[in-house]
Amino acid sequence: MKILAIETSCDETAAAVVENGRIVLSNIIASQVKEHIKYGGVVPEIASRRHIEAICTVTDKALKDAGLTFSDLDALAVTYAPGLIGALLVGVNYAKGLSLSTGLPLLAVHHLRSHIASCYITHKTLCPPFLALVVSGGHSHIVNVSSYTDFTVIGKTRDDAAGEVMDKVARALGLPYPGGLNLDKVSINGDINAYNFPRPKVENAPLDFSFSGLKTNAINLIHKAKQKEEHINIADLGASFINAVTDCLITNTDNAARQTKQNTIVLAGGVAANSVLRRKMEDLSKEKGYNLYLPSLSLCGDNAAMVGAQAYYEYKKGASSDLSLNAYASMPIDKC
Ligand code: KG4
Ligand code: ZN
Repeated sequence: MKILAIETSCDETAAAVVENGRIVLSNIIASQVKEHIKYGGVVPEIASRRHIEAICTVTDKALKDAGLTFSDLDALAVTYAPGLIGALLVGVNYAKGLSLSTGLPLLAVHHLRSHIASCYITHKTLCPPFLALVVSGGHSHIVNVSSYTDFTVIGKTRDDAAGEVMDKVARALGLPYPGGLNLDKVSINGDINAYNFPRPKVENAPLDFSFSGLKTNAINLIHKAKQKEEHINIADLGASFINAVTDCLITNTDNAARQTKQNTIVLAGGVAANSVLRRKMEDLSKEKGYNLYLPSLSLCGDNAAMVGAQAYYEYKKGASSDLSLNAYASMPIDKC
């Protein structure tokens, strides 16, 4: 079964053709990073306009690279939630138009489900049940994945997401957008013990996260140093901060695995590209005997291949959408 998938939830216009949920026949991504870099973050209005400009070309290229035409496809898929509402609407309306004109069935896919599905592409034999740590710019979830389409969130951030705090601290340090990626790069040789950051815990909720206090702690430190004209070692501060954030992610994931007696762990989302998080996940898994599945680096960020992968399993479960499909800025992974 061949699915053409479209993804426009944030600042990448993406289209891909995926066969049977696992084989990527094409995967095209038009990044808007250069556009948003001058503002230090994604400007939603600009993102929507760029999606409109790019979506036809990106989709045509995805079909061309796969060597297919619409008549070779079995279904269309699109990210419909969560994300920037204007950006999502571009993809959803384009996909609805394609469905109307081609008669192909339309599948609406949840963005975080897609991130998890990126590991089905990287690891062809991976199948549920497993525990997933999904960490992106907007979410930090620990999810019990009991089947391809059954999800239970058992831990989540009470405030900021892991990617969001990395982006904000990177910005305070004067690093360019995308902050998390650049913070990771400049911190590689930094001293993790140079700055002493807390490991916040949520009372009576050992699987939940709270990153906003940690972020404020780091930003206040940076601002005070600037006011006093004191030198800040960016590599050391970045390394210490990333060490604190990833400690929280690792501790709770380990707690969740023990609590659920789940031995298989999947990492997903943009922050899954973080070098420290990947290494700590590998170390934890070796120590505790967990089977760990990391997405390939090229599939950590937003892409449409992961949408096509998840769409296959949604289709097999019997899901389908019609022209009344809408986009939603927020939507729980387990209630769609
Ligand atoms: O999944 P994603 O591409 O978009 C959302 O769905 O939000 O995730 C983007 C997030 C951003 O916060 C970005 O800074 C972060 O992933 N990110 C990283 C790295 N690469 C991307 N954070 C830490 N280290 C990285 N190497
Ligand atoms: Zn994402």
